[in-house]
Amino acid sequence: MTVPEIRRIGVVGLGAMGAGIAQLAIEAGYETVGREISEDLGRRAHDRIAHFLQRKVDKERMAADECEAALGRLETTTELEAFADCDLVIEAIVEDLGAKLELFRALEQIVRPEAVLATNTSALSVTEIAAAVSTPERVVGMHFFNPAPLMPLVEIVRAELSSAEAVEAAFGVGERMGKRPIRCHDTPGFVVNRVLIPLLNDCIRVLDEARVSPEDLDTAMTAGAGWPMGPCTLVDLVGIDVHVHASEALYEKLREPRMAPPARIVAMRNAGLLGRKSGRGFYAYD
Ligand code: 3HC
Repeated sequence: MTVPEIRRIGVVGLGAMGAGIAQLAIEAGYETVGREISEDLGRRAHDRIAHFLQRKVDKERMAADECEAALGRLETTTELEAFADCDLVIEAIVEDLGAKLELFRALEQIVRPEAVLATNTSALSVTEIAAAVSTPERVVGMHFFNPAPLMPLVEIVRAELSSAEAVEAAFGVGERMGKRPIRCHDTPGFVVNRVLIPLLNDCIRVLDEARVSPEDLDTAMTAGAGWPMGPCTLVDLVGIDVHVHASEALYEKLREPRMAPPARIVAMRNAGLLGRKSGRGFYAYD
């Protein structure tokens, strides 16, 4: 397949990850359209992006006119039809295979056939998502890390039927966004989550085993292992629900006991203690 030069990027879902990806896209100079299910959610994402860009201006890491120009490249919409002239569409919706399949089926009707379709899934199979469309060669994974504007890595995932052109186009976009992209195949958890999810689950099990508080566990891993943030702070940032889902998805595929989510965080997820986004997880947030 011949992939067009990537000029216009669509982002589906403007939650923490999608808004971060849209921010990266406009900062890299791409015309960007982000889709949310309501105008209110779209406005909130726009405000969030504007806030983080303004912080860069305040800290003299970005000129005021660059900030204005970047925001000028951002459009939000509630309509998938706005992706019709995109060269790359990045999906960052809920981690639910059924929802993603439905979305990709709808995108196939709208986005032109040579455009690349990417998923930011954490732990689902890109190959399974690509099965929703009749042109799976244009589907790849672009897995960003939370917070997307700050974390340098993006995993460029080659699914079973991805074309080399689609993979390289996504890699090039990652580079232009200032990331350090890596190429990998579509295996459960790709590279980082394959290692990080069981490790975080071990950390959570240690809370009960060693009868240590979340604060002390975080101190242990930052002061004793050099982590930039402690595991409880990190799981709160990622979202308890996202972490439980990723653990379940990995466990289902690889059956390693350390991948299964510890009972403690399953209960937290069920109780709505989702971390920063709900105001309460291991810690309380304003
Ligand atoms: N979006 C955009 N900009 C943001 C942001 C966000 N979500 N959060 C913070 N910023 C900006 C802010 O403007 C902030 O400055 P301000 O406080 O003056 O306004 C600026 O970035 C710097 O923020 P911090 O001072 O908090 O930066 P730190 O130097 O403390 O580093 C960190 C923060 C990079 C997040 C660091 O703590 C870190 O590396 N933590 C580990 C994160 C990690 O491991 N992420 C991976 C999670 S796993 C995952 O995502 C996979 C998924 O599939 C589950």
